Amino acid sequence: MKDLSTSTSRKRVLSGIQPTGEVHLGNYLGALRQWVHMQDEYECFYVIVDQHAILGDGDPADLPTRTIDTAISLLSVGLDPEKCTIFVQSDVPEHLELQWLFNTVAPVGDLERMTQYKDKAAKYDSIPAGLLNYPVLQAADILIYRANAVPVGEDQRQHLEMTRDIARKWNARYGELFPEPDAIIPEVGRVIGLDGDAKMSKSLKNTIGILADEEETWSRIKGAVTDPKRIRREDPGRPEVCNVYSLHKLLSNPAIIPDIKEQCMTAQRGCVDCKRILFDSIIDVIAPIRKKAFYYQQHTDEVCDILKAGATRARSIAIDTLSEARDRMGLNWTSAL
Ligand code: AMP
Ligand code: TRP
Repeated sequence: MKDLSTSTSRKRVLSGIQPTGEVHLGNYLGALRQWVHMQDEYECFYVIVDQHAILGDGDPADLPTRTIDTAISLLSVGLDPEKCTIFVQSDVPEHLELQWLFNTVAPVGDLERMTQYKDKAAKYDSIPAGLLNYPVLQAADILIYRANAVPVGEDQRQHLEMTRDIARKWNARYGELFPEPDAIIPEVGRVIGLDGDAKMSKSLKNTIGILADEEETWSRIKGAVTDPKRIRREDPGRPEVCNVYSLHKLLSNPAIIPDIKEQCMTAQRGCVDCKRILFDSIIDVIAPIRKKAFYYQQHTDEVCDILKAGATRARSIAIDTLSEARDRMGLNWTSAL
């Protein structure tokens, strides 16, 4: 067996993000902040999953721009290509072959029970097979690097269980090769949308983009749903059901949170003023990110070079893992000669 041990003794991390173009505060708080922290301690791989994205109904003509914009967002939140490997999924086609190998062990019944599959499938008259197999490709993304840990948002917990299950089933049949990676999910849980929906998500148009300018950011916050029972200014509010309060807890200085709560419950501060304070907190977080993004938007060649170098690094590992998996599955027919 080939030596597939990692180049350093550090644990390996992999995570992925869809190239929606607009990275929002849900992505940032739910996942990317962790990605940045982890790059100092672990050997990290971060992939922009364009092969997953083609399942959506986006215009193919926009996908290249959305891919670059997503890379710009990743670099702007603080991922450092000297410390981690950032690349585009379709630049490492080995993920797709491993996905097929995994399709031979992934149980259809479990795939059909995935919450995200059920939600999305309900929107189709004719369900594409790729939607069912989405978590199998995700498992290949992770396991082709034999990653030990996967920092993701709460909504990905089930997909990570599926990855562990695929690793277990494949190892049981072909011998130990893949680790069962741990999902690393931050305490913030699911960041709710400005409309009060359970999830901040681009497709629901309830987001605050991390690269949005001040005017756009304020117009989004101004329109955010608060406690629906607080109709008049003098009505006391219920912070525990208020969207804006939950964002305060995630983004404002912890020292002001008791005041935000108290002033709301006693109706001393109205929702618009409370939103203005949140706006200031958000600007404090996103202003430095926007500044970096401005640089990369002017230097897209640099961004492309980073992604290409990342793909070369990632690919050399992916090729080795795939080759070992192929051998174990009897696909290396020349070994009989
Ligand atoms: P996506 O944009 O769906 O590819 O998500 C990229 C990462 O952000 C994944 O780890 C998601 O779990 C995480 N994420 C996306 N939306 C949210 C949200 N509203 N709250 C928490 N995490 C999120
Ligand atoms: N499914 C993830 C999402 O929608 C994106 C993703 C694809 C991913 N491959 C991955 C996340 C591998 C972690 C690891 O957010």
